[in-house]
Amino acid sequence: MAKKNKSWEHRLAGSPDELAMNFVESLSYDKRLYKYDIVGSIAHSAMLADVGLITKKEADQIKKGLLEVAEEIEAGKFRFDIVYEDIHMAIEAALTAKIGDAGKKLHTGRSRNDQVATDMRLWMRDEIASLQGKIANLQKAFVALAEKYTDDVMPAYTHLQRAQPVTIASYLLSFVEMLARDHCRLSNCSAIMNVSPLGCGAVAGSTLPLDRNNTAKRLGFDGIMNNSLDGMSDRDFCAEFIFDCSLIATHLSRLAEDFIIFSTNEFDFIRVADKYCTSSSMMPQKRNPDMLELIRGKSAGVIGCLTAMLTMLKGQPSTYNRDMQEDKLHVFRSADTVSASLEMAAAIVSNMEFKAEKIAAGMDNGFLDATALAEYLVSKGMPFRQGHGIVGAAVAACEKAGKKLADLSIEEFKKFSNVIDKDVYSYLGAAGIIKKYATEGAGGVKQAKKQITFWKKKLAKI
Ligand code: ARG
Repeated sequence: MAKKNKSWEHRLAGSPDELAMNFVESLSYDKRLYKYDIVGSIAHSAMLADVGLITKKEADQIKKGLLEVAEEIEAGKFRFDIVYEDIHMAIEAALTAKIGDAGKKLHTGRSRNDQVATDMRLWMRDEIASLQGKIANLQKAFVALAEKYTDDVMPAYTHLQRAQPVTIASYLLSFVEMLARDHCRLSNCSAIMNVSPLGCGAVAGSTLPLDRNNTAKRLGFDGIMNNSLDGMSDRDFCAEFIFDCSLIATHLSRLAEDFIIFSTNEFDFIRVADKYCTSSSMMPQKRNPDMLELIRGKSAGVIGCLTAMLTMLKGQPSTYNRDMQEDKLHVFRSADTVSASLEMAAAIVSNMEFKAEKIAAGMDNGFLDATALAEYLVSKGMPFRQGHGIVGAAVAACEKAGKKLADLSIEEFKKFSNVIDKDVYSYLGAAGIIKKYATEGAGGVKQAKKQITFWKKKLAKI
C-alpha cells in the first residue's frame, strides 16, 4: 500500500499506519454516497460564490471538476484509495488534483461532520422513494391475487387454530394494510429527516457568512436544522429508518412463515411457483420454499441492525464521535435487505396459487360456523353469553356423534334451543357465512370487494 500523507494532516507526525488506515476507513462502503457527496459539494460551492467567499469562476471550476469525478466513478475509472479514509476526502483530493487551487476552497466553512450528515439525508430521501415503490409493487401483487379469490373461503386462524371462515381475498388484503402503514411510516421518516445540517460545520457552525438556507434550498431540503451541535450529530433519522425497515422485515417474515406453513403437505393451501422453490440434493421429491425461508431469515439481520444502531448511539457523549461512521453499515444493510426481500416477496405473490377448491372442501372440520350460530341466536333475541353456551354444548354433542353443525336436524337443534328455526342453515357452513358478514372490514365477500376497489384506485396513483 502506498504510504501517502493526507495534505491536511500537518498536525500528526509520521506517515499513516497501515493497520490503522484499514481500521478507520469507510471508503469501502461509503463510496455509494458519491453522487450525493458531489451534489452537496456543488450546492455548497455555489453558495460560497453567492456570498462572495469564492468567485463565480471558481465555483464553475469546482462544479466542472466534480462532474468529471462523477463521470469517472460511474464509468468505473475512479481509483478509490483508502488512504483518503472516506468518500468525502477521496472526492476532494481528486478534485484538487484536477483543478488545483480552486479545489482547495471547496471545504470552506464545512466539516466532514456536516458533510456526511447531509450526504446521508440526501441518500435516504432517494432510498425511501425507492423502497416505497417496492412496497407499492408488493401491494399491487397482493390485490391482483386477492381479486381472483373474492368468493373463496379459507379458515382464519387465531392461535394457529381454526377460528372463523373468511374469504381468501380478505386474508391477502390484510397484508396490503400492513404494507400501507409501512409506506406511511417511511413518508413520516422522510418528512422529519428532510432538513439540512449543511453549515453546522464541525460542531459550532462558522464565523464565515455562510447562507445555510441557500444550500438547503438548492438541495431540496424543507429547511435547516436549528442548532449546529444537534444538526451535525443527529442520527435519529438513521435509527428511525432502520426501525421502519425492521418492521417491514417483520411483516415480510410473518407472511413468509404463513406461506411456508400453507405450502406444507399438511396444509396444502397454496402452490409456490417452482422457480421460487429449490430441491434437495438427496431427497428427490422435495420442493423447498427456500426463498420464503430466506425472507424470514434475513429479517433477523435487519432487526440486528436496529439493535446495533441504538447501542452505537446510546453511549456516545454529545455531538460527533467516530462511532457514528458505523451508522452507514447498519443503514445500508437494512435498506439492501428489505429492498431485496420486498422484490422477492412481490415475485412470489405474483406467481402463487391458492388451492381454493381443496381449501373449501376441508372447511367442514373445526366448527368454524360456531360463532355465526351464536350470533344467529342473538338475532333471535337471546343474550350472547347464553347463546355461546348453547352452541358450545351443540359443538360438544356433534363432536361425539362425528357430525358437523349443519348435519343437525331442526328437531335436534330444538333440543338445544327452541328459538332455532329453519333459517339457521344459512348461518351454517363457511360458504354461507362469508356472505353474511355485516360489519365494515369483516372477512366477507362484500367487504373484500370493497377493499379491492379502494386499493386498486389508490395504488393506480403510485
Ligand atoms: N467517514 C466519517 C463518518 O462517516 C466522516 C466524518 C468524519 N469526521 C471526523 N471528525 N473524523 O462519520
